[in-house]
Amino acid sequence: MSVVAVVPAAGSGVRLGAGMPKAFVELSGVPMLVRAVDGLLAPGVVDHVVVVVPGDQVAAAGPMFGDRPVTVVPGGADRTASVAAGLAVLGPGTEVVLVHDAARPLTPPDVVRRVVAAVRAGAPAVIPVLPVPDTVKTVDGAGVVVSTVDRSALRAVQTPQGFRAGDLRRAYAGTPDPRTDDAGLVEAIGDPVRTVDGDPLAFKVTTAWDLRIAELLLTGAGERIG
Ligand code: C5P
Repeated sequence: MSVVAVVPAAGSGVRLGAGMPKAFVELSGVPMLVRAVDGLLAPGVVDHVVVVVPGDQVAAAGPMFGDRPVTVVPGGADRTASVAAGLAVLGPGTEVVLVHDAARPLTPPDVVRRVVAAVRAGAPAVIPVLPVPDTVKTVDGAGVVVSTVDRSALRAVQTPQGFRAGDLRRAYAGTPDPRTDDAGLVEAIGDPVRTVDGDPLAFKVTTAWDLRIAELLLTGAGERIG
């Protein structure tokens, strides 16, 4: 069963404020994007990776991957368009597709294994999730609390998300509305989405604080996660 991972890495990284696309920012000397790709390849369950970068970075990104099984393509205006650009180059023999944010560079191999195993076992769509530890409230435009949400039913969603290739292609057919994750599009076409355990180390690097935490984790526990 051929498994291909699409890695959207075409974001500008404005919230990180590093003055370059987020995926190219280095963590202990290795670009986040390369760490994310190596994390996908490490468990030996992914055959090929399609990396989606800003259009003006395609030439620069290619050599970053050496002899790894990686194809680099230009992305789009939002994450959904970038993933669609990656899906467009998948061969007809692709049976399972993972979609994994470049911005989750410390994702442990076990998360990748769990997601692929669940798709192989027959689930059309699989997402790694964590319980939400904080109390969550909705607020109005003036910052006044409207309600308190029952957190026992809430989950924070990570990547890689895994799909039977045909189902993800169907979800992305046409011009999909921009979504913050891929399972959202699969939900929209009525397919069930299964959950597996995520991992705190699969957190998304969004702000400079996240980047600092990632650096500390790599230097403080390098043997375990680096
Ligand atoms: O912006 P956010 O952190 O949600 O982005 C998640 C992932 O989507 C990142 O890896 C980012 O590079 C990618 N992305 C993309 N194309 C865009 C916007 C975001 O590939 N136009």
